[in-house]
Amino acid sequence: MRCMNITRSNTLNFIGLETVYPTASGETLTRLHLDGAASPLPCTAALDAITELLPHYSNTHSYVHNCAKISTKALTWAHSQILNFVNAPQQTYTSIFLGAGTTSAVNRVARGLHGLRPEKKVVLISAMEHHANDLPHRQYENQVHYIPLTGDGIQLGAIDLKALENLLVAHSGNVNYIAVSSVSNVTGIKNPVAEMADLAHKHDAFILVDGAQSVSHTNTDLGADDVDFFIFSGHKLYAPMSPGVMIAKQSLLSQMSGQDLGGGSVSTVSYYDYELLPNYPDREQAGTPNIVGAVALANVAQVLSQQAQTVQANEKVVISTLFDALNNLPNITVYGDHLLARTGALAFNHRNIDHGLLAAILNDYYAIAVRNECFCAHPYVSSLLKQELWELDLSDIPEEEQEGYINRKRGMVRVSISAYNTNADVERLIKALNEIEINMKELEQNYQPQADGSYAHINFRLDWSKELSFL
Ligand SMILES: Cc1ncc(COP(=O)(O)O)c(C=O)c1O
Repeated sequence: MRCMNITRSNTLNFIGLETVYPTASGETLTRLHLDGAASPLPCTAALDAITELLPHYSNTHSYVHNCAKISTKALTWAHSQILNFVNAPQQTYTSIFLGAGTTSAVNRVARGLHGLRPEKKVVLISAMEHHANDLPHRQYENQVHYIPLTGDGIQLGAIDLKALENLLVAHSGNVNYIAVSSVSNVTGIKNPVAEMADLAHKHDAFILVDGAQSVSHTNTDLGADDVDFFIFSGHKLYAPMSPGVMIAKQSLLSQMSGQDLGGGSVSTVSYYDYELLPNYPDREQAGTPNIVGAVALANVAQVLSQQAQTVQANEKVVISTLFDALNNLPNITVYGDHLLARTGALAFNHRNIDHGLLAAILNDYYAIAVRNECFCAHPYVSSLLKQELWELDLSDIPEEEQEGYINRKRGMVRVSISAYNTNADVERLIKALNEIEINMKELEQNYQPQADGSYAHINFRLDWSKELSFL
């Protein structure tokens, strides 16, 4: 049995596209997953790799017995596949698997960069970040400044490069690093990564790019972009069982080595001293990594890169169909600058239907999974909603209900698309939204607003125990 180049077929298939759920109207419908920005459906290439590796599975870092040799080889292959996937030159970069996703890796970088240059207190973060690429940088007495976006309010756009440059000049000599996402997890708006990296380096700042939302939708080219750290979650790349990934410049890591210590990263250890291994990624990856998950992820990355052109062409059509269709509906506001290219996700609101209610109806009556609320990007969502919240008419709402009322308006509905979504999915969503618009009075009566801003159907509940035997 081979352990290298695990894939048997280079076709992309996904698990769960055929799953059916009962609905509140008594029908059973095939679910429609429009929540890939949170986690897309698993790719079968992940399962293929796991099935092939498990009969050989063993801990790595040993060349004595056969399965350790095979598992070690497979893990080494996974590291290098991931570097290939993001076009990171192997002599410059290394890939580290750690934790459950982007969050673990960002925390590690924030800690490492503070340790490397504690005297540089300023960190610049874009105003559209997920909390995972914001809160970790607020530690260590950092002075965090937010890089403004182009546009304003509902029409906020991408990172304003001029404003970034101004901040770098204003804090000259004190900026340790900038932390930005390549694509927003709310609006799907793309940021100019290469230009940001160039500006950062001109001002002696490092750059960390949160690639969680771009990695499955666009070609990542670290050879061209020259970022110092590129981070993403394996589960966003169709491999939900996989770890987080940190791709880092070796020259930089060598200056902040040994943050996480333990077995596998050291060559010699005495009671008084230890020596880190000379080679990457081992010296940076203490403990047993998630070997099976990493190999599954690498196999998905390999298959996906073979299909990248087709996948990206399809996604481009689907997102633009979705954007146009939503904009053509009455009462819908799509957030973010309408002139900018999007990938993966769009967020919107209906003028007369709270985001929580709309998302619940789409799920309960249409088996369509979308996400709502603030998507762990509260400051950004608040900026996009500022004007609408300000203009709310509270005159008919009793004072004691006003807070709950405002909370139910604070949020959006996000539709996100993945490699398996098609224009037919967009049609199904738009048909559902049109029907909801027509039948809203009736539908509304079936829901009870909850204290947390969500809506619960008065008599429909999914019976979990019918879906999973172990529940
Ligand atoms: C842009 C972005 N960054 C970070 C994260 C956090 O990822 P994880 O929960 O896998 O750590 C997400 C998750 O949605 C995200 O969209």
